Formats: sequence, C-alpha cells, structure tokens
Amino acid sequence: MAETDIKYGLVGVVTDDTAVSKVMPETNSLTYRGYAVQDLAAQCRFEEVAYLIWNGELPTRSQLEAFNAQEKSNRGLSEDIIDVMRKFPKGAHPMATLRTAISFLGLEDSEIEDHATDKLYERAISLYAKIPQIVATDFRLRNGKEPIAPDASLGFSENFFHMCFGEVPAPEIVKCFDISMTLYAEHSFNASTFSARVIASSLSGIYSAVTGAIGSLKGPLHGGANEAVMYMLQDVGTAENAKAWMLDALATKKKIMGFGHRVYRSGDSRVPTMTEAYKNMVDIIDSDEARKYWEMSRILDETMVGEKGIYPNLDFPAGPAYYLMGFEIPMFTPIFVVSRITGWTAHIIEQLGDNKLIRPLSNYTGPAQRDVTPMDKR
Ligand code: COA
Repeated sequence: MAETDIKYGLVGVVTDDTAVSKVMPETNSLTYRGYAVQDLAAQCRFEEVAYLIWNGELPTRSQLEAFNAQEKSNRGLSEDIIDVMRKFPKGAHPMATLRTAISFLGLEDSEIEDHATDKLYERAISLYAKIPQIVATDFRLRNGKEPIAPDASLGFSENFFHMCFGEVPAPEIVKCFDISMTLYAEHSFNASTFSARVIASSLSGIYSAVTGAIGSLKGPLHGGANEAVMYMLQDVGTAENAKAWMLDALATKKKIMGFGHRVYRSGDSRVPTMTEAYKNMVDIIDSDEARKYWEMSRILDETMVGEKGIYPNLDFPAGPAYYLMGFEIPMFTPIFVVSRITGWTAHIIEQLGDNKLIRPLSNYTGPAQRDVTPMDKR
C-alpha cells in the first residue's frame, strides 16, 4: 500500500451518512438537523435543542412539556451510586469519576442488551437527566459537602446550578450556560462521537459507547481543551503579559490550547456566539477579575490570529466563561458531557438503526513473516 493511500488520523475520510448535524468549513457554519446553531442558541432553550437532536424537529409547546416532564421524571440517582461515588478517590479527575459512575448506571440497568430504538431513546433521556446530577454530586462530595437533590420546579440549566451551589444565579448567567449547552451539544464525527459509534457498532450497548466517548473527550486535544485554556489563562496571569506570553509560546513551538480545529480552518462557527455570551457575563459580573480574563482572551486571540492565522475554537471562550460562573476547572469537560450526551446518543441510535461493524484496515510495518525459534535456541 502506498503511503499516500493511508489517511493518517482519518483526515478527510467520510465514513458514513448522518442526518444529525452538518459542519460546513467553507462557510464556517454548523447546523443541527438543518438549523443554524447560532439561531438555535439565540432563540431556543437547551431543552428544545436536545429534543431537536433526538427527534429531528423542534418541539411544539405541548411536545416540549411532555419531553421536560420525561426528563424530570428520570432525574435522581440511586443511594447505591451515591455511596459508590462517596468512595471515589478525591484526587481522581471528574471525567474519570463520571466515566465510572456512568458505567455503574449500566450495571443498574437490567435491559442493557436491548438495542431497540425506543429503548435506546429512553436510555438517552435517562442519561441526559442523570449526568448533571452525577457531575454536581461529584463536585460537592470532593469538596466535603453533601449532595443536593434535583428540583423538579427548575429547568435543565437552572437545576444544574442548584445541584452544584444550592442556588440559581442571575438569569443572564444561566443564559450564558444554556447557550454553551446548545453549542457543545453536537458536532458530527468528532473523536468522541466516532468512538461512540465504533463501540455501538459491535453491539456492545449504549453505556459502553458513552463511557468510551467520555474517555475520548477527556483528552486535551479534544474536550479537555476547555480546562487547558483556563490553566493557560492563569499561567498568562495579566492582560499586560498576554501578547508577550503568546509570542514566546509560538517562538518555542508550544501547542496553544483553545486554538485550531481539524475541520474548520478559518474560524469555528460556534465561537462568535459563545464569545458574545462570555462578554455579556463579564459585563454582568462587573469585577476586575472578570475584566482581566476578558482582556487576556481578547489579546491572545488577536495575537494568535495575527501571527499564525489560527483561530480560536469553542473551548477558548467556554473555559473562562465556566470559570466566571464559579465552576472548578476540572469540571469543565464533565460539563461538556452534560450537553454532548445528546449528540452522542443521537449518533448511537443512528448507528444502530442501520448498523455495520466499523472495522478499518491497517498498513502493516512490522517484520516479515518468520519462523518461531524454539526456546533452547534463542
Ligand atoms: N497551537 C499552535 N499551533 C497549532 C495549533 C495550536 N493550537 N493548532 C494547529 N497548529 C499548527 C500545527 O502546529 C501545524 O503546524 P505545522 O504545519 O507548522 O506543523 C498546523 O497548525 C496544522 O495543525 P495540525 O495539528 O496538523 O492540525 P490537526 O487538524 O491535526 O489538529 C487540533 C487539530 C485541534 C488537534 C489542533 O489544532 C490542536 O491541538 N489544538 C489545541 C487543542 C484544542 O484546542 N483542541 C480542541 C479542539 S475543538
């Protein structure tokens, strides 16, 4: 096989059809089921977007009410899982604890082998309803606090803040979070979604596929970048230092977290919407710290685009936005999962609706076939 026939990193390879979302790098745009993501972020709550991703259409008012009632009735974790979570090592990364907790949810599900579409859909809603509580419970337990039960009077995003902090912040801050949920929800065949589809294709089950996707998303070249961006901003320290920091990082050929994208080459479709939401939040918080991070972000962005022509991706504004909302940095990628569970499970359902085992070929580069030398002659 000629080396040119090998698509390292599957760059440019189309592996299947999908009707869930479309990434259009030529126009820097992204649609979920045909709707532009920035229009969805501006006009819909995340619950409507979740419904759309699974059902293919935006809900009517009564469909949305029924959907929200289904989500709320699926909230709540067993005492067993909370007990297991109490035993998690406090130093473990929240993505690792989330992966383990979801694996435990699979142990509690007696119909795990049922791959019928309606059963998969029920499980998808159950994961969507339970993951926020797992993330919030883990956050509280690792900080020596008792978990807070979900509140059925609260919407999806409000309830997440309630379970983390025992209170819901100003509506503008909830809106910023809700927008981030919409923007993170789905992005075609990215590494974690593709991992989920590969695992689903062997008929291993939805929990295996989701835990595998979490493992993939955790890496700093994928979802873990939103955490890495915040550590980078802390390292930069001040707005005055931002330009010099970036020039030095580029001169020493460092990978700058939150910049670049495998598919988009001249801008990530989701960034303008998230940057605007981040800026609105900075204005509402109105503190020196918030203004400092905003200024730093602006200078790093300007310098990177000016020097290298490499644009920020969604993780660049999302990281500091989550920080200013009061979340701990290692929670940022689990928060990504709170949203992306919608896209992953839509893809798992799509994969299993017309399944073909995903099994590519490889180009062997090891020794030619040879004979085994008996032990006494080696
Ligand atoms: N910082 C510095 N240089 C970068 C860069 C970054 N964040 N992203 C890309 N580049 C440079 C590469 O060094 C390479 O330069 P070269 O041709 O001189 O070697 C060129 O741009 C092409 O990058 P490459 O890594 O081949 O692109 P890719 O498609 O394989 O990588 C990412 C895409 C996302 C993995 C990469 O941009 C990256 O690591 N970004 C940082 C992590 C991140 O933010 N991930 C979240 C993605 S949504």
